[in-house]
This record gives sequence, structure tokens and C-alpha cells, in this order.
Amino acid sequence: IKAAITLARDRGLSWYVLGGGSNLLAIDAGYNGMIIRIVADAEESIAFEEHGDAVRAIAWAGVSWDAFVDACASRVLWGIENLAGIPGTVGAAPVQNIGAYGAEVADTLAWAEVLDTDSLEVHRIENAACEFGYRDSMFKRNRSLIILRVAFDLRINGKAKTSYADIAARIETGAVVSTPSEVASLVRSIRAQKFPDLSLCGTAGSFFKNPVISVEAFKVLKEKYPELPGYESPNGMKVSLAWILDKALNLKGFSQGNVRLFEKQPLVLVTNEGASAHDVDAFANEITKKVFDATNISIEREVQNLS
Ligand code: EPU
Repeated sequence: IKAAITLARDRGLSWYVLGGGSNLLAIDAGYNGMIIRIVADAEESIAFEEHGDAVRAIAWAGVSWDAFVDACASRVLWGIENLAGIPGTVGAAPVQNIGAYGAEVADTLAWAEVLDTDSLEVHRIENAACEFGYRDSMFKRNRSLIILRVAFDLRINGKAKTSYADIAARIETGAVVSTPSEVASLVRSIRAQKFPDLSLCGTAGSFFKNPVISVEAFKVLKEKYPELPGYESPNGMKVSLAWILDKALNLKGFSQGNVRLFEKQPLVLVTNEGASAHDVDAFANEITKKVFDATNISIEREVQNLS
């Protein structure tokens, strides 16, 4: 990686580090610079260290996130099993603090080791210094740091996190969640019902973040939409954008050209072959406007732009 950065500098090229590329919208003109893709084999690139009743799992950045989840679950280590089935790499996971089904990377990450491309030195950044937030971290803002390795503290005597409604509902109908592998399988089966098949269409998962608004603004909105789900979060009320798109705006399956909101989960934007980044951008702006007109909320994109 140092050699790649040095080469890019020598040639005056900008550079971009790609994880799995699963949360990215690349402009139609193409990226004028160097793309660095970090890849590592899960078999050879994960180490486990015992620390009392916890185990520290350390993986190189290029390992597939889902292979890492599986490697930890198969050793009956608890902590990241609710994050099964998310595309991308271990090194990309902390950047946007990936989260799903009541867990996020920030809950278990111990440290991330980074290459500082300004000094070409390697540093270790502890959890508290990562500035984790909802789909956010200091890595998202500080692009001069490249994540090389990530360590997670996982529990030997854990239990399933079942607070998320989709998981609780499946348990009520008989799903068993006595091991991390069982939780991971359950999460994968819930995801398979909601998310499109990545091998069939273009998608980056949730295209927008769920908006966080003030308690007062939420009360006002509840008068217009009494059923609107809201969840307390550190900075206010997190509102379900999928609900707004579906129930308030009736936009499930809404399409323009080759771009549409997925029928089973309208927060997920999907494209058919032939869609350009410009089409996606225009469509997303249209959705942003519709949401603002109905709710006065300015939604933010979760997907990163490569330009
Ligand atoms: N809902 C509807 N209609 C729908 C779907 C959902 O009204 O068609 C409402 C329901 O009230 C539901 C609520 O929206 O309870 C929330 O939906 P869901 O549980 O599917 O989660 P989400 O808030 O839409 C977030 C993450 C996903 C993550 C899921 C599960 C964001 C931006 N997205 O989606 O993450 O998998 O929760 O935890 O926070 C991603 O980041 O790319 C991603 C897929």
C-alpha cells in the first residue's frame, strides 16, 4: 500500500481505496486517478487472541466482512453475528460504522490499525478515538488514513441480541438463536427477504440514512402521520425513512427509467443494467425533494460518491 501511495504521489494522481465497492456511486466519466483495492484471504488473515472470557479477533482489512462474521460465529464468539450478510470488507466496516438488526461495528471494535498516508506511518486508533456515530466515523472524514487491520473484542459467554422487531418476530414463530451461527443464519434469511439479489441488479443497500430530527419536530410530524415509527437516539429521534417512502408517499417500486425504489424495502435503491450514475443521482434528488415537501426533512445520502 505504501508503494501504491508513493507511486500515485510521484505521478501526481489522486487515489481512492476501495473495500468491496458495495456502498459507492461512481461518476459516469470514471475516476481520474488510482484505485487501490485491498484484498485478503479469510483463511490466512484472521487471528484470535484469548483475553479472559473475551476473545480478540483481528483481521486484515481485505478480508470479506461476511467471511469474518462466519469465522467468528463458527468459534462460538458473540458480538457481530447480527451483522451477517452485509457486503464489503473488514477494512471498510468501521468507515461507515456498519449496523443492522440492533448491532453496529462500534459496539465491539477494539482498535483499527491505519496507514497515515501523509507520514507513511502506521498507527493504532482505539475505539473511543474513532468518533463513531450513526453510519459515521472519523475515517469517513479523514481520507488520508487507510485501514489495514481491525480488532474486535468478542464474548465467549454471550447471548443473542433479539431486541430488533424482525428478529423478535421470527423467534416468536419458532426460530432458534442459541449460537452465533444460528443468529447469523436467521439474519441472512431476514435479509434475503428484504434485499435484492446483488448478483441480479445494481444496489448499494440503503441509499439514504434514516433522518434524526428533534423531539419537537417529531411531535409535529406525528400529528400529520400518527403511525410514523421513531426511535430515541443520542441526537434526537431517528425516524424510519422506509415508512415515510412507503406509507406517507406510496413510493414502493417507484421508478424513473432504469432506477427504482425496491418493492420490498423502499430505502433500497436498485438499478437495471444501463442506468448511469447521473440517472441515479437525478432519481435520488427527486426522492429527496418528495420527502422534503411532505415532511420538511432534508434527508442525507448514506452512499458515498466516487468522483
Ligand atoms: N417499513 C415500512 N415499509 C417497508 C419497509 C419498512 O413501512 O417496506 C418501516 C417499518 O416500520 C420498519 C421500519 O420501516 O419497522 C424500518 O425498516 P427496516 O427494519 O427494514 O430497517 P431500515 O431502517 O429501513 C436499517 C438500515 C439497514 C439495516 C436495517 C436492519 C439504515 C440507513 N439502514 O434499515 O442497513 O440492514 O436497518 O437493521 O440505517 C444499509 O445501511 O445499507 C442497510 C441496509
